[in-house]
Amino acid sequence: MNMSARKILVTSALPYANGAIHLGHLVEYIQTDIWVRFQKMRGNECWYVCADDTHGTPIMLRAEKEGITPEALIARVHGEHSRDFTGFHVAFDNYYTTHSDETRFYSEDIYLKLKVAGLIEVRSIEQFYDPVKQMFLPDRFIKGECPKCGAKDQYGDSCEVCGAAYAPTDLKDPVSAVSGARPELKSSDHYFFKLSDPRCQQFLREWTRQGSLQTEAANKLHEWLGNEGDNKLTDWDISRDAPYFGFEIPGENGERNTGKYFYVWLDAPIGYMGSFKNLCTKKGLDFDEYWQPDSTAELYHFIGKDILYFHALFWPAELKHAGYRTPTNVFAHGFLTVDGAKMSKSRGTFITAESYLTQGLNPEWLRYYFAAKLNGSMEDIDLNLDDFVARVNSDLIGKYINIASRCAGFIAKRFGGKLSGKLAGSSGNGIIEEMVAAATSIAQSYEARDFGRAVREIMALADKANGYIATAKPWEIAKQAGKDAELHQVCTEGLAMFRLLTLYLKPILPKLVQRAEEFLNVAPLHWGDSGFQLPHDHLINPYEHLMARIEPKQIEALVAANRESLVAVEPSPQRHAEHQQNTEDKMQETTHISIDDFMKVDLRIARIANAEHVEGAEKLLKLTLDLGPLGTRQVFAGIKSAYDPATLVGRMTVMVANLAPRKMRFGMSEGMVLAASDPDNKTAGLFILSPDAGATPGMQVK
Ligand code: MSP
Ligand code: ZN
Repeated sequence: MNMSARKILVTSALPYANGAIHLGHLVEYIQTDIWVRFQKMRGNECWYVCADDTHGTPIMLRAEKEGITPEALIARVHGEHSRDFTGFHVAFDNYYTTHSDETRFYSEDIYLKLKVAGLIEVRSIEQFYDPVKQMFLPDRFIKGECPKCGAKDQYGDSCEVCGAAYAPTDLKDPVSAVSGARPELKSSDHYFFKLSDPRCQQFLREWTRQGSLQTEAANKLHEWLGNEGDNKLTDWDISRDAPYFGFEIPGENGERNTGKYFYVWLDAPIGYMGSFKNLCTKKGLDFDEYWQPDSTAELYHFIGKDILYFHALFWPAELKHAGYRTPTNVFAHGFLTVDGAKMSKSRGTFITAESYLTQGLNPEWLRYYFAAKLNGSMEDIDLNLDDFVARVNSDLIGKYINIASRCAGFIAKRFGGKLSGKLAGSSGNGIIEEMVAAATSIAQSYEARDFGRAVREIMALADKANGYIATAKPWEIAKQAGKDAELHQVCTEGLAMFRLLTLYLKPILPKLVQRAEEFLNVAPLHWGDSGFQLPHDHLINPYEHLMARIEPKQIEALVAANRESLVAVEPSPQRHAEHQQNTEDKMQETTHISIDDFMKVDLRIARIANAEHVEGAEKLLKLTLDLGPLGTRQVFAGIKSAYDPATLVGRMTVMVANLAPRKMRFGMSEGMVLAASDPDNKTAGLFILSPDAGATPGMQVK
């Protein structure tokens, strides 16, 4: 580490611990990882920390639904997330969890300091409460009719049909998405962070001005803050009532029995500190050097544009008034689309990191493609699947790898693996010199997170290298007698060019470059190595092909693997016929299944807690099923022709509890109720199953 090395702490947003990592997430983690690898190659002291974001109602309910503790859920997901990130070569210095002593410590510390500063206020507010589940309902767990356009089944915070934003209390006919019960208004004390305090607004105006914020981010902040003298910010509700999975808010004397919990978004960014503190303990680093108010270290948060408000308003204001340093900058990026549209499960474009890897696709293909598309702005980026194949094959295989594969064989076969003694970094045609000189501008592009520009410049250089080789034609010189020296020279220069391109691509393609370094028989490349050439008579290792092409059928298989077929709950006659056909085919293939096959179906006793008509649905009833210890499920069942919903409420039945949830036109369907019928559901009618008296909700049927 040299004297002028910068000290830099970098974070990516903490992914929620209740979902799989998908390609959208990877836009962020790959982007950050490339930037961090670049900083490290430059010789800066750069630390990259992240963690799972583990608290909140959705995680609590998800664990309950799975019949496990939240701790067990977050431990499992931590393993899955770590596996996925490692698979994409995202090299955190620490990947931790917000459910940690460190994060609890700083959450209490920051909260108590804000309280001393007079920035915490307790107020009683009225909120929707689920009388069945006995909990307050977050906006996303309340559904009802949009107050603006009348669309049914909309969330409590905004309408997906007309885009209106509103309070859950504005919804018409609200229902709890947890139990199906009608929520009641109930008041309770909540703790607020006083963002409206003049000190916060004043500080945020300064913070916004001093940094070199992205233009779009600065515009957003200006919109939120308004002009000097405006008072547009509202206080932020940072508490939630029990039951909640999170940290309990300490009382007057530090006691932990207030029954109030920090809202997940309060401790989430503090998780950055928690993860770094944990790293400091492991590595013997000085935490304060990075977090005290006069720290000269740099602090950057990479985030998606959806969470800018949290990172550019709440977070700096909290840090400032709790006596910590504030972020040097926040780098927001746009959202990933696939083939121009939002990722979609039915189209198979909601692609998980895991499926990409298990389908055998090379993670560096995606790293390269994302790098080529990223430009440091908040624009959305599109993964066009055809372009992905074309671009990776043409750039990485056709341009970059091609240089090594065209030159390496001759060096091995004709010169015993030894490079020419003449190469001094000069090809006589200026290409190597040009490549060396490009180090400065390529570095500027990386620094500015304009990886697209870096890639364009690197590929333009690769074109020149290929042009040189195509003109020199080593494969022809090789056939001519007495031209050994020339052949040796051309191939040596080609490999010198390859080495420089390798160095410049290293932040993007760490594993490929590692193999290229082994082939070139050089120590791990640093940015400064661009100024040096390979020593005379350098020995290289035998060349093995560095990267395979993408085959379009691999992409087809990936999309197929991620496509969630929309099984008809409201079967169209044709779909129904297909279904029958398939069943018959299966019957011919095999008339028996093993007990293991049968045990894969998780059949459970369910109590129909609620049943109702679904506006606009011909055949469906919406059922809320109580599975006892397994929680509740919402299921759309095609039994409207046979049952009046009122007669179903309270009945016990049998359901398939481990059917993958499906998004229906009317909402999520989380299972299937078993019913007997003749083949066309018509002649004889439809009969749902009932257990004998004594069976209780959640019991397994086997
Ligand atoms: N848990 C919060 C972040 C807390 S940070 C203190 C969260 N989690 S998330 O899992 O929903 O998202 C994690 C990051 O991935 C966010 O920065 C988010 O913007 C980003 N992305 C999630 N989906 C994305 C796309 N489809 N495209 C690009 N980035 C996306 O938010
Ligand atoms: Zn609406």
